[in-house]
Amino acid sequence: MKLAPSILAADFSRLGVQVAEAERAGADRIHVDVMDGHFVPNLSMGAPIVASLRPVTRLPLETHMMISNPDLFLQEFADSGSDSFLVHWEGNVNLHRTVQAIRALGKRVGVAINPATPAAVLEEILPDVDQVLVMTVDPGFGHQHFLHSTLAKIRRVRQMIDRVKPGCDLEVDGGIDSETARLCVEAGANVLVAGSSVFGSNKSVSEAMSRLRAKGE
Ligand code: DX5
Ligand code: ZN
Repeated sequence: MKLAPSILAADFSRLGVQVAEAERAGADRIHVDVMDGHFVPNLSMGAPIVASLRPVTRLPLETHMMISNPDLFLQEFADSGSDSFLVHWEGNVNLHRTVQAIRALGKRVGVAINPATPAAVLEEILPDVDQVLVMTVDPGFGHQHFLHSTLAKIRRVRQMIDRVKPGCDLEVDGGIDSETARLCVEAGANVLVAGSSVFGSNKSVSEAMSRLRAKGE
């Protein structure tokens, strides 16, 4: 099981320190949520944050593109130090082209699906990706409640991955705490994105991460 702390919940005045702490505590990658106020009803961060973090950590920086036209920004994020991109199926009429553009930049690529989107849409794109992201909340905000209705879909995506693309990561994002981590891992997820339960708890980042790991294993 891998952990991808999401910096959306971090204290931005201490971002470098918190990311370094997550790295020391054994984080596997750092999840960067990019929002444009259009694809999702919230604004977050752009490529300068990735550029600032690049010298601070050796961990892969995974960039979750919650924006209407990800193609326009791939190069800028890649130049800033992003190692992988998660792009949404929703609203992307040329998803295959976007996936190939990310590959051409030499980056890892994943496709994300929202809670109301069925697993079946992944079937044809799966051979071309390194990871799948099943959203366990509607994207746009941290601190939301985990949607239990997504568990059956996680199981279906796990079966599809085992059949079509063994080795592909199955990542979940939204409302992950020690309890929902366990449910997701049981359903077949192997990468957990966690924001508020890592950076927003009253425990230290490393304590919060060990709690997540203990329940998720
Ligand atoms: C939600 C983002 C998540 C968010 C998760 O739109 O994609 O990555 O940071 O935050 P928590 O873990 O607080 O639900
Ligand atoms: Zn995310």
